[in-house]
Amino acid sequence: MSGPPAGKLPLTELAEMKRRGEKIVMVTAYDAPGARFAEDAGVDLILVGDTAAMVVLGHEGTTVPVTMDEMLFLTKTVARAAYRPIVVGDMPFGSYQVSDEDAVRNAIRFVKEARAEAVKLEGAGPSVSRARAIVGAGIPVMGHVGLTPQSATMLGGFKTQGKTSEAARKLVTEALELEAAGCFAVVLEAVPAPVGAEITRRLTVPTIGIGAGADCDGQVLVYHDLLGLEERIAPRFVRRYAQLGSEAREAIAAYAADVRSGKFPSAAESYADPTRPAEVVAQLYG
Ligand code: KIV
Repeated sequence: MSGPPAGKLPLTELAEMKRRGEKIVMVTAYDAPGARFAEDAGVDLILVGDTAAMVVLGHEGTTVPVTMDEMLFLTKTVARAAYRPIVVGDMPFGSYQVSDEDAVRNAIRFVKEARAEAVKLEGAGPSVSRARAIVGAGIPVMGHVGLTPQSATMLGGFKTQGKTSEAARKLVTEALELEAAGCFAVVLEAVPAPVGAEITRRLTVPTIGIGAGADCDGQVLVYHDLLGLEERIAPRFVRRYAQLGSEAREAIAAYAADVRSGKFPSAAESYADPTRPAEVVAQLYG
């Protein structure tokens, strides 16, 4: 791959941040305005998450249906507006499960067509070999263990992972395998805080937690959760920093009431003076 565009946070800086004990900030975004807000807020990474299936595309309770073409479309819009943050395209279910070759081919589409700087994939097991193959093709990979929504059915639902010592040990092993495969960071989702801390201590690459405790090297939240745009579900690990959903609803209701009562648009919001309609018509039609 060619070098990053000017002004882009160098990927290698993330490991340096871990070394310096500086927290890494990642947020998801799915369009250019969201990317601009994240950029202005100074985040380090933007994940174009496959949570798009639920928070943008209207699929209920699953990330599985989102397609490569949909993810590429969303990633393109984000990449156009994100200058400093590293843009990570989330590989959707079905885009890397079949073979290493398929995984590399689809990862290439993320960087070549959608202009992502990196990709993320879920799980360990076969995903370790997929990650190694994609890194081998020169594309940075972010791993993701713990609650991996693409395999939520296998995991018994959207549940905390690594709660027994055996399950916790397995998570540590998986994270170490992903690091050994060349992943530049690993997302830890919905795991007990001590497990998040232990994995963070053992890895040299940064961990990015979501419901994995305060000791992770960085944190990620879903844009719609953080801003209160998704109001129906609130996992324990979500902190809402705004209530944009209720603000949006109130604003649209106020607009509708003004249209119905004739208060919108006003004269100032119109192009011609409505008190002199005859003159206006004359101006327009001679
Ligand atoms: O798809 C996504 O948004 C994610 C984050 C929750 C880490 O994978």
